[in-house]
Amino acid sequence: MKLKLKIWRQKNPKSKGKMVDYNVSEISKDMSFLEMLDVLNESLNNKGEEPIAFDHDCREGICGMCSLYINGEAHGPSRAVTTCQLHMREFSNGDTIYIEPWRAKAFPVVKDLVVDRSAFDRIIQAGGYVSVNTSGNTIDANAVPVPKVDADEAFDAATCIGCGACVATCKNSSAMLFTSAKISQLSLLPQGQVERERRVLNMVKQMDAEGFGNCTNTGACEVECPKEISLENIARMNREHIAASIKSKS
Ligand code: SF4
Ligand code: FES
Repeated sequence: MKLKLKIWRQKNPKSKGKMVDYNVSEISKDMSFLEMLDVLNESLNNKGEEPIAFDHDCREGICGMCSLYINGEAHGPSRAVTTCQLHMREFSNGDTIYIEPWRAKAFPVVKDLVVDRSAFDRIIQAGGYVSVNTSGNTIDANAVPVPKVDADEAFDAATCIGCGACVATCKNSSAMLFTSAKISQLSLLPQGQVERERRVLNMVKQMDAEGFGNCTNTGACEVECPKEISLENIARMNREHIAASIKSKS
Protein backbone atom coordinates (compact mmCIF):
# COMPACT_ATOMS: atom_id res chain seq x y z
CA MET A 1 0.00 0.00 0.00
CA LYS A 2 0.97 3.59 -0.56
CA LEU A 3 -0.28 6.11 1.98
CA LYS A 4 -0.23 9.82 2.57
CA LEU A 5 0.33 10.73 6.22
CA LYS A 6 -0.40 14.05 7.88
CA ILE A 7 1.45 13.99 11.19
CA TRP A 8 1.64 16.48 14.07
CA ARG A 9 5.23 17.67 14.55
CA GLN A 10 6.20 19.72 17.58
CA LYS A 11 9.81 20.22 18.69
CA ASN A 12 9.14 20.68 22.41
CA PRO A 13 6.34 21.62 24.85
CA LYS A 14 6.77 25.34 24.17
CA SER A 15 7.05 25.37 20.39
CA LYS A 16 4.09 25.76 18.05
CA GLY A 17 3.35 22.49 16.30
CA LYS A 18 1.98 21.87 12.82
CA MET A 19 0.77 19.06 10.58
CA VAL A 20 3.48 17.83 8.19
CA ASP A 21 2.89 15.68 5.07
CA TYR A 22 4.74 12.40 4.51
CA ASN A 23 4.40 9.63 1.93
CA VAL A 24 5.03 5.96 2.73
CA SER A 25 5.05 3.02 0.36
CA GLU A 26 5.48 -0.76 0.51
CA ILE A 27 3.21 -0.94 3.56
CA SER A 28 1.87 -4.45 4.13
CA LYS A 29 -1.72 -4.89 5.30
CA ASP A 30 -0.34 -7.23 7.99
CA MET A 31 1.78 -4.52 9.57
CA SER A 32 0.62 -2.90 12.77
CA PHE A 33 0.09 0.86 12.76
CA LEU A 34 3.26 1.33 14.82
CA GLU A 35 5.26 -0.82 12.38
CA MET A 36 4.05 1.47 9.60
CA LEU A 37 5.43 4.41 11.61
CA ASP A 38 8.67 2.47 12.10
CA VAL A 39 8.98 2.23 8.29
CA LEU A 40 8.51 5.99 8.00
CA ASN A 41 11.04 6.68 10.77
CA GLU A 42 13.60 4.41 9.13
CA SER A 43 13.29 6.36 5.89
CA LEU A 44 13.56 9.68 7.79
CA ASN A 45 16.67 8.39 9.57
CA ASN A 46 18.20 7.31 6.25
CA LYS A 47 17.64 10.83 4.90
CA GLY A 48 19.22 12.36 8.01
CA GLU A 49 15.89 13.85 9.13
CA GLU A 50 14.50 13.85 12.68
CA PRO A 51 12.31 10.74 13.25
CA ILE A 52 8.79 11.16 14.61
CA ALA A 53 8.56 10.74 18.39
CA PHE A 54 5.71 8.49 19.52
CA ASP A 55 5.09 6.47 22.69
CA HIS A 56 5.10 2.68 22.71
CA ASP A 57 6.39 -0.17 24.83
CA CYS A 58 4.75 -3.61 24.96
CA ARG A 59 3.09 -3.48 21.51
CA GLU A 60 0.65 -6.10 22.88
CA GLY A 61 -2.17 -3.92 24.19
CA ILE A 62 -1.19 -4.17 27.85
CA CYS A 63 1.04 -1.24 28.85
CA GLY A 64 -1.11 1.70 27.74
CA MET A 65 1.83 3.63 26.29
CA CYS A 66 0.73 3.92 22.65
CA SER A 67 -1.58 6.88 22.33
CA LEU A 68 -2.36 8.18 18.88
CA TYR A 69 -5.37 10.10 17.63
CA ILE A 70 -5.87 8.59 14.16
CA ASN A 71 -8.30 10.15 11.69
CA GLY A 72 -10.06 11.86 14.59
CA GLU A 73 -10.42 8.79 16.79
CA ALA A 74 -8.42 7.68 19.81
CA HIS A 75 -6.51 4.50 18.85
CA GLY A 76 -7.98 4.74 15.32
CA PRO A 77 -11.05 3.27 13.65
CA SER A 78 -11.19 -0.20 15.30
CA ARG A 79 -13.03 -0.85 18.57
CA ALA A 80 -11.50 -2.39 21.72
CA VAL A 81 -7.93 -2.19 20.44
CA THR A 82 -4.93 -0.04 21.23
CA THR A 83 -2.90 1.69 18.53
CA CYS A 84 -0.29 -1.08 18.70
CA GLN A 85 -3.03 -3.65 17.96
CA LEU A 86 -4.43 -1.66 15.04
CA HIS A 87 -3.46 -3.18 11.69
CA MET A 88 -2.97 -1.57 8.31
CA ARG A 89 -5.68 -3.82 6.84
CA GLU A 90 -8.13 -1.31 8.33
CA PHE A 91 -6.91 1.17 5.69
CA SER A 92 -6.87 1.17 1.88
CA ASN A 93 -4.20 1.88 -0.68
CA GLY A 94 -4.02 5.62 -1.36
CA ASP A 95 -5.64 6.66 1.94
CA THR A 96 -4.70 9.87 3.68
CA ILE A 97 -4.26 9.31 7.43
CA TYR A 98 -4.21 12.09 10.02
CA ILE A 99 -2.07 11.30 13.09
CA GLU A 100 -2.17 13.56 16.14
CA PRO A 101 -1.26 13.35 19.85
CA TRP A 102 -3.86 13.14 22.64
CA ARG A 103 -5.17 16.67 23.10
CA ALA A 104 -6.08 17.74 26.65
CA LYS A 105 -4.93 20.52 28.96
CA ALA A 106 -3.84 17.94 31.54
CA PHE A 107 -1.81 16.00 28.91
CA PRO A 108 0.65 18.60 27.53
CA VAL A 109 2.59 17.63 24.40
CA VAL A 110 6.21 16.73 25.15
CA LYS A 111 7.31 16.23 21.55
CA ASP A 112 5.52 15.34 18.29
CA LEU A 113 3.03 12.61 19.26
CA VAL A 114 4.24 12.13 22.85
CA VAL A 115 2.21 13.64 25.68
CA ASP A 116 2.88 13.89 29.41
CA ARG A 117 0.42 11.59 31.20
CA SER A 118 1.97 11.94 34.66
CA ALA A 119 -1.31 13.49 35.83
CA PHE A 120 -2.64 9.91 35.88
CA ASP A 121 0.27 8.83 38.10
CA ARG A 122 -0.54 11.60 40.56
CA ILE A 123 -4.19 10.49 40.71
CA ILE A 124 -3.03 6.96 41.56
CA GLN A 125 -0.57 8.30 44.16
CA ALA A 126 -3.48 10.13 45.82
CA GLY A 127 -5.16 6.84 46.77
CA GLY A 128 -5.04 4.10 44.14
CA TYR A 129 -3.54 1.48 46.44
CA VAL A 130 -4.24 -0.72 49.44
CA SER A 131 -2.08 -0.77 52.56
CA VAL A 132 -1.03 -4.24 53.67
CA ASN A 133 0.64 -5.55 56.78
CA THR A 134 4.06 -6.77 55.72
CA SER A 135 5.25 -7.68 59.21
CA GLY A 136 5.14 -11.38 58.45
CA ASN A 137 1.47 -11.75 59.34
CA THR A 138 0.18 -10.95 55.86
CA ILE A 139 -2.92 -12.94 54.96
CA ASP A 140 -2.80 -14.73 51.62
CA ALA A 141 -5.16 -12.82 49.29
CA ASN A 142 -6.68 -16.14 48.20
CA ALA A 143 -7.73 -16.84 51.80
CA VAL A 144 -10.17 -13.89 51.75
CA PRO A 145 -13.52 -14.92 50.21
CA VAL A 146 -14.81 -12.53 47.51
CA PRO A 147 -18.30 -12.87 45.97
CA LYS A 148 -17.99 -13.91 42.30
CA VAL A 149 -19.91 -10.89 40.98
CA ASP A 150 -17.65 -8.48 42.89
CA ALA A 151 -14.51 -10.31 41.80
CA ASP A 152 -15.58 -10.16 38.14
CA GLU A 153 -16.49 -6.44 38.30
CA ALA A 154 -13.23 -5.61 40.09
CA PHE A 155 -11.29 -7.56 37.48
CA ASP A 156 -13.05 -5.78 34.62
CA ALA A 157 -12.21 -2.40 36.19
CA ALA A 158 -8.60 -3.53 36.73
CA THR A 159 -8.13 -4.08 33.00
CA CYS A 160 -7.80 -0.30 32.51
CA ILE A 161 -4.30 0.23 31.12
CA GLY A 162 -4.15 3.98 31.81
CA CYS A 163 -3.75 4.90 28.16
CA GLY A 164 -5.76 8.13 28.38
CA ALA A 165 -7.94 7.53 25.32
CA CYS A 166 -10.99 8.32 27.46
CA VAL A 167 -9.61 11.79 28.21
CA ALA A 168 -8.56 12.43 24.61
CA THR A 169 -11.98 11.41 23.32
CA CYS A 170 -14.08 13.34 25.82
CA LYS A 171 -15.21 16.81 24.74
CA ASN A 172 -14.60 17.89 28.38
CA SER A 173 -11.23 16.08 28.67
CA SER A 174 -12.70 14.23 31.62
CA ALA A 175 -10.64 11.56 33.39
CA MET A 176 -13.64 10.07 35.18
CA LEU A 177 -13.60 6.73 33.35
CA PHE A 178 -9.96 6.15 34.27
CA THR A 179 -10.30 7.39 37.87
CA SER A 180 -13.51 5.46 38.48
CA ALA A 181 -11.98 2.24 37.14
CA LYS A 182 -9.02 2.61 39.48
CA ILE A 183 -11.33 3.34 42.44
CA SER A 184 -13.73 0.50 41.58
CA GLN A 185 -11.09 -2.19 41.28
CA LEU A 186 -10.21 -1.62 44.94
CA SER A 187 -13.52 -0.58 46.50
CA LEU A 188 -15.23 -3.76 45.27
CA LEU A 189 -12.80 -5.98 47.15
CA PRO A 190 -12.55 -6.67 50.91
CA GLN A 191 -8.89 -5.56 50.87
CA GLY A 192 -9.94 -2.12 49.61
CA GLN A 193 -12.37 -1.31 52.42
CA VAL A 194 -10.00 0.27 54.98
CA GLU A 195 -9.08 3.24 52.76
CA ARG A 196 -12.33 3.27 50.78
CA GLU A 197 -13.68 6.70 51.78
CA ARG A 198 -10.32 8.43 51.90
CA ARG A 199 -9.45 6.96 48.52
CA VAL A 200 -12.44 8.30 46.59
CA LEU A 201 -12.19 11.75 48.19
CA ASN A 202 -8.45 12.10 47.54
CA MET A 203 -8.41 10.66 44.02
CA VAL A 204 -11.31 12.83 42.85
CA LYS A 205 -9.68 15.89 44.47
CA GLN A 206 -6.42 15.18 42.61
CA MET A 207 -8.29 14.55 39.35
CA ASP A 208 -9.89 17.98 39.62
CA ALA A 209 -6.59 19.62 40.61
CA GLU A 210 -4.93 18.24 37.45
CA GLY A 211 -7.34 20.20 35.27
CA PHE A 212 -9.45 17.38 33.84
CA GLY A 213 -13.02 18.31 32.96
CA ASN A 214 -16.27 16.92 34.28
CA CYS A 215 -18.40 14.10 32.92
CA THR A 216 -21.54 15.13 31.03
CA ASN A 217 -22.65 11.56 30.21
CA THR A 218 -21.74 11.66 26.51
CA GLY A 219 -20.33 8.15 26.73
CA ALA A 220 -17.61 8.65 24.10
CA CYS A 221 -14.98 7.41 26.59
CA GLU A 222 -16.64 4.00 26.89
CA VAL A 223 -16.89 3.69 23.09
CA GLU A 224 -13.23 4.52 22.47
CA CYS A 225 -11.76 2.72 25.49
CA PRO A 226 -9.57 -0.15 24.23
CA LYS A 227 -10.47 -2.20 27.31
CA GLU A 228 -14.22 -1.46 27.15
CA ILE A 229 -14.29 -0.04 30.68
CA SER A 230 -17.95 0.50 31.58
CA LEU A 231 -19.59 3.82 32.44
CA GLU A 232 -21.05 1.99 35.44
CA ASN A 233 -17.72 2.66 37.12
CA ILE A 234 -18.37 6.41 36.92
CA ALA A 235 -21.79 5.93 38.50
CA ARG A 236 -20.19 3.86 41.29
CA MET A 237 -17.51 6.51 41.86
CA ASN A 238 -20.14 9.25 42.09
CA ARG A 239 -22.19 7.24 44.62
CA GLU A 240 -19.06 6.55 46.68
CA HIS A 241 -18.00 10.18 46.54
CA ILE A 242 -21.36 11.47 47.76
CA ALA A 243 -21.45 8.93 50.60
CA ALA A 244 -17.85 9.66 51.65
CA SER A 245 -18.42 13.45 51.49
CA ILE A 246 -21.50 13.24 53.73
CA LYS A 247 -19.68 10.99 56.21
CA SER A 248 -16.62 13.23 56.34
CA LYS A 249 -18.83 16.21 57.25
CA SER A 250 -20.93 14.43 59.89
S1 SF4 B 1 -10.53 3.81 31.01
FE1 SF4 B 1 -10.00 2.88 29.01
S2 SF4 B 1 -9.45 4.64 27.73
FE2 SF4 B 1 -9.36 5.34 29.85
S3 SF4 B 1 -7.25 5.04 30.52
FE3 SF4 B 1 -8.37 3.17 31.10
S4 SF4 B 1 -8.09 1.78 29.36
FE4 SF4 B 1 -7.52 3.82 28.59
S1 FES C 1 2.42 -0.29 23.20
FE1 FES C 1 1.65 -1.18 25.05
S2 FES C 1 -0.50 -0.97 24.84
FE2 FES C 1 0.26 -0.29 22.91
